[in-house]
Amino acid sequence: MSDGSRLPAFFRLERFEEIDSTNEELKRRAVRGANEGTLIWAGAQTGGRGRRGRSFVSPPGNLYMSMLLRPERAPGRAAQLGFAAALAVGEAAAPLLPPAADLAYKWPNDVLIDGRKTCGILLESQAAASGTLDWLIVGIGVNLVSFPPGPETPATSLTAAGAAPVSPETMLARVAGRFLFWYERWLGEGFAPLRQAWLARAQGLGQPIRVRLGDSESEGRFAGLDEEGALLLESGPVRRRITAGDVFPAAR
Ligand code: BTN
Repeated sequence: MSDGSRLPAFFRLERFEEIDSTNEELKRRAVRGANEGTLIWAGAQTGGRGRRGRSFVSPPGNLYMSMLLRPERAPGRAAQLGFAAALAVGEAAAPLLPPAADLAYKWPNDVLIDGRKTCGILLESQAAASGTLDWLIVGIGVNLVSFPPGPETPATSLTAAGAAPVSPETMLARVAGRFLFWYERWLGEGFAPLRQAWLARAQGLGQPIRVRLGDSESEGRFAGLDEEGALLLESGPVRRRITAGDVFPAAR
């Protein structure tokens, strides 16, 4: 069995010292027909992108990677691979962390250490005329040695959280390896095993939360994930499925 320090043969790696955005580069290649498993890794990004049009500050020292997948699955299921990416980062980071560190997953795709965001995941996809996915890009940024100030979502890095030092190259191989494990399970068994693993370390499960989508906010109890990965928000007898948004602890 691999110890995770080698990139699995599934991937075809392209390394850049600096690039606008690994997702953007991979998208340029995806539309030209690049193969599943193409993996773009950059030492820094000048135009790193986050969810909801936000930018993702990407100085040297951290990990910036994007993987191309072409699963013959419905486009509506693509978001489930964001959970695979979060599990991959969590499992790659966990052995490096001090025993007392609290590693948790925050819906939909964040990985928290001691309540602070340590990675960002951005999924982008396109459907084929056949009705299945044409391509899906899973972009992952992991704060290894530095993190941006974030007043609303406090951040951290593996170094700041007391982790054993790890190079971007080693972390790349570990994250890619764990991602491939979960991707193959998803292809073979569907979302259920990912859902179970993610819920075992879900931040705020059963707690009051606030979900923001655009200008509107909803409050309720975080009651879990449905079979597709939607967040279940419970307010009294009403249970809502939330498919997009940012989650915060409920206002006191
Ligand atoms: C978020 O937290 O809003 C998601 C951030 C995703 C950042 C990664 S870094 C590698 C890849 N390239 C990008 O431009 N974005 C993703």
